[in-house]
Amino acid sequence: MINGSKVLDHPIRWAMVGGGKGSQIGYIHRSAALRDNNFQLVAGAFDINPERGMAFAAELGVAPDRCYPDYKTMFEEEAKREDGIEAVSIATPNGMHYTVCKAALEAGLHVVCEKPLCFTSEEAEELVALAKEKNRVVGVTYGYSGHQMIQQARQMIQHGDLGDIRVINMSFAFGGYNYKIEETNPAAKWRFDPTKAGPSFALGDVGTHPLFIIEAMIPDMKIDNLMCTKDSFVEGRELEDNAFVIMRLKGSKSVQEGAKVYCWASSINCGARHGHKIRVVGSKASIEWDDERPNQMTYEIEGEPVRTLERGAGYLYPEARVEDRIGGGHAEGLFEAWANLYRRFAVAMDAANNGEEYGDFWYPNVESGAQGVKWIEKCVESANNGACWVDYE
Ligand code: NAI
Repeated sequence: MINGSKVLDHPIRWAMVGGGKGSQIGYIHRSAALRDNNFQLVAGAFDINPERGMAFAAELGVAPDRCYPDYKTMFEEEAKREDGIEAVSIATPNGMHYTVCKAALEAGLHVVCEKPLCFTSEEAEELVALAKEKNRVVGVTYGYSGHQMIQQARQMIQHGDLGDIRVINMSFAFGGYNYKIEETNPAAKWRFDPTKAGPSFALGDVGTHPLFIIEAMIPDMKIDNLMCTKDSFVEGRELEDNAFVIMRLKGSKSVQEGAKVYCWASSINCGARHGHKIRVVGSKASIEWDDERPNQMTYEIEGEPVRTLERGAGYLYPEARVEDRIGGGHAEGLFEAWANLYRRFAVAMDAANNGEEYGDFWYPNVESGAQGVKWIEKCVESANNGACWVDYE
């Protein structure tokens, strides 16, 4: 049970690049990081518009002399201070992630980076190597993976409760982008501009979320090859607003050779809110989880009535209960899931600072970010070549 008690000697001195006023994702970063006193927000380059960033910093209680016009100035100036920043979160549009992440690592900072980590596998490999060389943590905010039922699924699969995994049917297929929303919504506009969003919209913006969740549920999962088809149903879009991917998996301890994963990533699923659901089918039983009802997961053993597992319940595996923040029956949500990840990032950062191992837990790290980038690349390659099968390795 997490109860707010002190985990680190001192809170990590932390800054943000992006996540300014009115941004979609800035608030949940701050809320998650500050929840357990593991981070202290002391500096920032919050906005593409420095004046707006300065005004927002004042609202957040960041000292005016530590609010900077851009990330480069921030890294330079903070390095001169004895109490300079130790970690930075990057919550800008995708096109900045690689440059800012690289600069932060070179400045000796730990990083929390939004997904997708960067645009190409080459860039991703460079960041993986740099993080290792500098002994710095790079956490990637695949926020939904912090929900406790994901831990439960991971334990159930590891303990063989489902048998061998044969099929995974997953989607992140939301509605709302079924018309030219980018004409009036700035956060939607950059998402369809390849110079700012990268080589994909739907696959990168939403498809990578269930991808990381199944990687977390099944750590020994390996993609053998995949095929993808993508479309821009709304006229004039440079990037896809809908995509389907089929993946063939290699055999492993938990996975039957030739198992299939089917993924639907969409922004034009009229009427759906998130449509973010994952069903894992094994040789004995299936589980199903939906991000809009994250405290529950169905467990369906062939020939028996459907069971609904509840967060916080005593029958869950212990690993699925260590991050309880309140007893079962009370609804925990996305903010708690993100806070769980930020807590794990903090513990890993502290361990790296002290040259220690951080113990038996996982978090979406720089390799997870690189995996997402590679997956997008392979999907785009397949789709651009008539939805052909593409080898993954
Ligand atoms: P947004 O467009 O709403 O906000 C972007 C923010 O970054 C704004 O405050 C803007 O002023 C600032 N910014 C832009 N360029 C900057 C620069 N050079 N220096 C400093 N600040 C700069 O975008 P949104 O939706 O918040 O997305 C940001 C990132 O978060 C994207 O990479 C997106 O993929 C990711 N995201 C992740 C989610 C998740 O579940 N992990 C959910 C939503 C977005």
